[in-house]
Amino acid sequence: MRPQFEEGLTLDRFLMETARSHPARTGQFVALMHQVMLAAKMVSARVNRAGLAGMIGQTGEKNIQGEFVMKLDVYANETFKRALEHAGVCCLIVSEEEEAPIHIPEPYQNGAYVFMMDPLDGSSNIDVNATIGTIFGIYRRVSAEGGPGELQDVLRSGRELVAAGYIIYGAGTLLVLATQEHGVNGFTLDPSVGEFFLSHRDLKLNDEASLYSINEGYEAQWDERLVRYIRSLKDPARGMSARYIGSLVADFHRNLLKGGLFIYPGTKKSPKGKLRVLYEAFPLAFIAEAAGGAATNGETPILDLVPTSLHQRTPLVIGNAPLVAEATAAMSATPATKG
Ligand code: AHG
Ligand code: MN
Ligand code: MN
Repeated sequence: MRPQFEEGLTLDRFLMETARSHPARTGQFVALMHQVMLAAKMVSARVNRAGLAGMIGQTGEKNIQGEFVMKLDVYANETFKRALEHAGVCCLIVSEEEEAPIHIPEPYQNGAYVFMMDPLDGSSNIDVNATIGTIFGIYRRVSAEGGPGELQDVLRSGRELVAAGYIIYGAGTLLVLATQEHGVNGFTLDPSVGEFFLSHRDLKLNDEASLYSINEGYEAQWDERLVRYIRSLKDPARGMSARYIGSLVADFHRNLLKGGLFIYPGTKKSPKGKLRVLYEAFPLAFIAEAAGGAATNGETPILDLVPTSLHQRTPLVIGNAPLVAEATAAMSATPATKG
């Protein structure tokens, strides 16, 4: 049975107490999460300063903001990378920002975990002060301990993830962590204390799912069955409403709390859609399933995919299980014959 955690518990203590129930563990997972917390706090502080600069900066505002979008992507990538490289807890890091897998540089030690990240998701939203985030997934290595990580440590089924999470830099900073054993829990950063406190305990998708999220601007590129399905959601009898921020992490988080369906489909131009398997779809699918929901690419549950390349893309249908099943059935129905 899962222990009952009190709201207000720090993430630090949550990690120590949950690790205690696994005496075989080496403490590396807790150490890894400490580095994630450090990097998250650093990025959060930088994001907040960006907002302030945007509000008061009048001269050269365009330049600064234009450059900052770039800088924040790079800053987040460098911050998470440095935090994780130095701690002896990872043997390989995969980042959206880097084509090749990142090996641990000398003189640092290789650890037991592989960390996959989208360091800054929703970066097109930075300059409008809308919510952005970091998405991550964690595998335990399968190659021999001690040496550098190998591709086999990362190109594997999403079912083998040991944990996944995201950090949202919004009105507040929230770290959501999902593990097999302890489900999905959200921790809010109190910036005056510098700690993450448990604020969303044992999250489950809200059954009263009434939101759908898809970029309807691309409707002309959709398959006719998807067009019909999205149209069917607009039947007033269904009581559905649309929400789309354009930051996957923020769209997912809202739908997790409120209940709903997010679709980023394949299109005629891009049959595999836009989102990446390893550091966008896998972590969020892991969290969705742990919260009682589902995620598919339209044919296969996302977590059953086995990617063959680091930056592979996939269509994504994610959210409450009944809605995901309904959408998938509608999208794969036999096309109506024209005539
Ligand atoms: P990133 O900022 O990491 O490149 O990701 C952007 C992604 C994702 O956050 C969001 O769901 C999607 O882009 C929005 O894309 P569209 O503008 O095509 O809807
Ligand atoms: Mn992204
Ligand atoms: Mn990104």
